[in-house]
Amino acid sequence: MKQNQNQKKGNQKQNQGQQKRPPQQKGGQQAQGQAKGTAQGQNPASPRSPAQPKSPTPASPPRAQSPADAMQVDPAPQPAPPQKQPDQNPEDKLLQKDKTSSDYYWNSYAHFSIHEQMLKDRVRTNAYKRSIMENAHLIKNKVVLDVGCGTGILSLFAAKAGAAHVYAVDCSDIAIQAQQIVIDNGFKDKITVIHSKMEDVTLPCKVDVILSEWMGYFLLYESMLNTVIYARDRFLAPGGVILPDKASLYIATVEDAEYKAKKIEFWDNVYGFNMGCIKKVAYIEPIVDTVNGECLNSLPCRFFTIDLNTVKESDLSFTAPFQLKATRTDFAHALIAWFDVDFSRVHKPLSLTTSPKAPYTHWKQTVFYLEDVLILSEGDTISGTIDVRPNQKNPRDLDIKINVDYEGKWNEVHKTQEYLLR
Ligand SMILES: C[S@@+](CC[C@H](N)C(=O)[O-])C[C@H]1O[C@@H](n2cnc3c(N)ncnc32)[C@H](O)[C@@H]1O
Repeated sequence: MKQNQNQKKGNQKQNQGQQKRPPQQKGGQQAQGQAKGTAQGQNPASPRSPAQPKSPTPASPPRAQSPADAMQVDPAPQPAPPQKQPDQNPEDKLLQKDKTSSDYYWNSYAHFSIHEQMLKDRVRTNAYKRSIMENAHLIKNKVVLDVGCGTGILSLFAAKAGAAHVYAVDCSDIAIQAQQIVIDNGFKDKITVIHSKMEDVTLPCKVDVILSEWMGYFLLYESMLNTVIYARDRFLAPGGVILPDKASLYIATVEDAEYKAKKIEFWDNVYGFNMGCIKKVAYIEPIVDTVNGECLNSLPCRFFTIDLNTVKESDLSFTAPFQLKATRTDFAHALIAWFDVDFSRVHKPLSLTTSPKAPYTHWKQTVFYLEDVLILSEGDTISGTIDVRPNQKNPRDLDIKINVDYEGKWNEVHKTQEYLLR
């Protein structure tokens, strides 16, 4: 991705398109205003955020719920469920005329705009397209299951690559459009769209291939991986293929004085008033935003890897050590994390990376501000551990605890900070 040449130093990449930040970012604080981080010309609403209701606006900010959540017991006061029309015209249903803004609020994946943003993330969609279309030997004459099909894009790729049959499952109302898309593209006999929660589906046979785009911010936010694990254990034939089949998380230090001042220190003095109590909350919430790869000042460390063929739900709560080597003398204001997924069972192995040094993806990076700035000298080692587990109250949120042990030439930091990705 091209960087703005005049970019100031700081963690967030210069915006080359829209200057506005998402009004609500999934999995982290909102980053607002003229900040440097919004990625190039992307639609400001995050594909992973619930659609924002125009009216009425509930008092509390929307959680990044999946439609699956929305179908379950209400976690909090919610708008009254919409009255379903008993004899709804199928045309109206396809046009989603029955939907109000509050429906979209609780069922964000029902609205096409979220899918539009995901489809327009070309890095993401092309990685899947290539892994399927350039590896037709994995798909041809095989039975394929698309977990969380959305518009059906991965199912369409699979059908085009010669799948014997594709089961495309989605619990959100986008499945109604997926069905129409399948018909309109001539794949009615090849793709069966199932409008249901994956966990409630019965299939007539085992499947040879599972396709899914399940990754949330910081890889694990949103916990959709649990659904893929469920589908694998229930439906994948022995020796079957999962695409992608590997995922890893990375961490590094970053110089970010300017943006940290804007987002955190801001609260120390607001029109002459001390609002430091908000600063404490601001520290807790990691920020999902684009980071300028040039502001990394340590080598990255991979601290978590999973194999989709064997991973268990319990593996998704973990404590991992990390060691980072400083690459220059500099301040480290934050740790940042990102992920890769690999399609390694293909002829030409392929990776989808969300690294700050790679082209933009809608997952951006996740920034964890440090209360104590590290003063790095080139070659120093920063040791630490990162503990990640689903939040007990809302398992789609993540509790993340980072311990840093640093004994540098200029300062020492031994500190544990707790974060909540929500
Ligand atoms: C990230 S989107 C991916 C959509 C599509 N596969 C694509 O690549 O554009 C994930 C989809 O999974 C669906 N989903 C999430 N949890 C699900 C579950 N438990 N059962 C069925 N669908 C689910 C959501 O409704 C959403 O449409």
